[in-house]
Amino acid sequence: MSTAPQIVTTIAELRHRIKALRQDDARIGLVPTMGALHAGHLSLIQEITNHVDVTVVSIFVNPAQFAPHEDFDRYPRTLMADAEKLGVSGETDLIFAPSVGEMYPPGFATRIEVAGPAIGLESDSRPRFFSGVAVVVSKLLVAAMPDVAMFGEKDYQQLLVVRKMVADLGLNMRILGSPIVRERDGLAMSSRNAYLTADDRKIAGQLNVILQSLIAELRDGAAITTVEESGKRALLEVGFKSVDYLAVRDAETLAPLTNLDRPARILAAATVGTTRLLDNMAV
Ligand code: PAF
Repeated sequence: MSTAPQIVTTIAELRHRIKALRQDDARIGLVPTMGALHAGHLSLIQEITNHVDVTVVSIFVNPAQFAPHEDFDRYPRTLMADAEKLGVSGETDLIFAPSVGEMYPPGFATRIEVAGPAIGLESDSRPRFFSGVAVVVSKLLVAAMPDVAMFGEKDYQQLLVVRKMVADLGLNMRILGSPIVRERDGLAMSSRNAYLTADDRKIAGQLNVILQSLIAELRDGAAITTVEESGKRALLEVGFKSVDYLAVRDAETLAPLTNLDRPARILAAATVGTTRLLDNMAV
């Protein structure tokens, strides 16, 4: 029988436990999550164990990164099931699951704004999103002071924003990205896939198929702007309700590109039914 990892809920307890673990020179890894864990999260955790001795997983649905009209209230909260999954996979040493009051005590007044890779794409539709992510991730990183923190490439822009923030603040830790884990039809795994109806789910599976065919067109020499426009049309034609963006960008800075003279990434956000999906791929 597997034993679920211990759950700590306060920053003081987390620091205390990590300090004790460090006395044996253990390298600490942190995987920040919002819970509702799926195979994508488990792969982040498995990957980080190649780099560290002790793995801490944080589970916190962060209100600061949701706009008032978004899904904060209905976002799945499954702490006990998550702890069991982590127990079964056996790679997590400690879970940090703070309350909202622990992370944002009354009077909390700090904002963190990252420019650079945070400008455009997600920010155009979700203007407060990256400042909400930046404040919670910096708070988690400062509390745990890991040697390595691991983020999924599904949220590719988020990964670049966190990397930039950590570099700019001079935090002494490595931020690693782990490849997207996909369902059998290629749909990127996401906790929000649970919102999809059966009809939505069929349409959702087209997102990665369309991105792959756009990459093939780019490799055959099609112009970036043509591919971006035909990709948006293709998503609407297969049944997506709206497309927030479909863009080919510099893979390191997310700056717009006019030609493929450097590593590029194609990124998209589109809504099917009431569910907003993200995906991205190396070009
Ligand atoms: O990617 C997520 O799940 C969240 O944005 C993160 C990084 C855990 C911050 O709340």
